[in-house]
Amino acid sequence: DAPAARVADLAGRHVVVSAGGTREYLDPVRYLGNRSSGRQGVAIAEAAAARGAKVTLVAANVTVEVPAGIDVVQVETTAQLHEAMLARTDASDVVVMAAAPADFRPESTAGAKIKKDESGSVPEVRLVQNPDVLADLVARRGPGSAAPLLVGFAAETGDEQATVLEHARAKLARKGCDYLVVNDVSAGKAFDRPDNEVVVLGADGSALEVPLGPKSEIARALLDVLARRLDNR
Ligand code: CTP
Ligand code: CA
Repeated sequence: DAPAARVADLAGRHVVVSAGGTREYLDPVRYLGNRSSGRQGVAIAEAAAARGAKVTLVAANVTVEVPAGIDVVQVETTAQLHEAMLARTDASDVVVMAAAPADFRPESTAGAKIKKDESGSVPEVRLVQNPDVLADLVARRGPGSAAPLLVGFAAETGDEQATVLEHARAKLARKGCDYLVVNDVSAGKAFDRPDNEVVVLGADGSALEVPLGPKSEIARALLDVLARRLDNR
């Protein structure tokens, strides 16, 4: 449809988007991190704002520029992301978890830089599990409640057990969110690149294939789905 038909179709809506990758500190200078740049989440935030939404971006170490007009909350760790999301999504209409939160963090963070010692012994890092932000948003919304719409992202690879889409369907069911945007990362696709190719799986059984294109186009296709869903309830 014509772009004019979409103008301001998210007016009056509050959209909260998380983007980027968390860092879990071993000591003041070193962390466990991941390859997410935040590009896709920022593209969604930007597109939602252009369509009239009030947008909050919870940004974990985002390395791309965030356009003006978007309320940005900076976080570093999954624990901070968890706290920021739970504090800001209560009255929201849509939450998009495009961030890549680290699943684990070091059990403790050294207060001073970890040094090598003469003997050549290496430190052992014990990991503990981080909170699951999306799962907690689903749990807090409670059964039977439709707001906010909850959208997850998943980067998957196929393996001997299941295809990318089979893994994704199972994850959508496990997470209990409304949509899962699935990325096939088998061949090093998607990371730190301007374009992407996804399937938007719905808890209602729907599947929308979005062909390879700029992340702004992925954002547009996803927001088309979400705006329609918001209008129909
Ligand atoms: N997610 C989250 N909190 C976490 C981990 C993940 O909110 N601690 C969100 C991500 O932002 C994403 C969705 O959950 O929207 C799916 O993330 P993914 O890492 O694919 O799911 P996991 O349940 O962590 O499963 P896996 O073992 O495959 O990493
Ligand atoms: Ca994970």
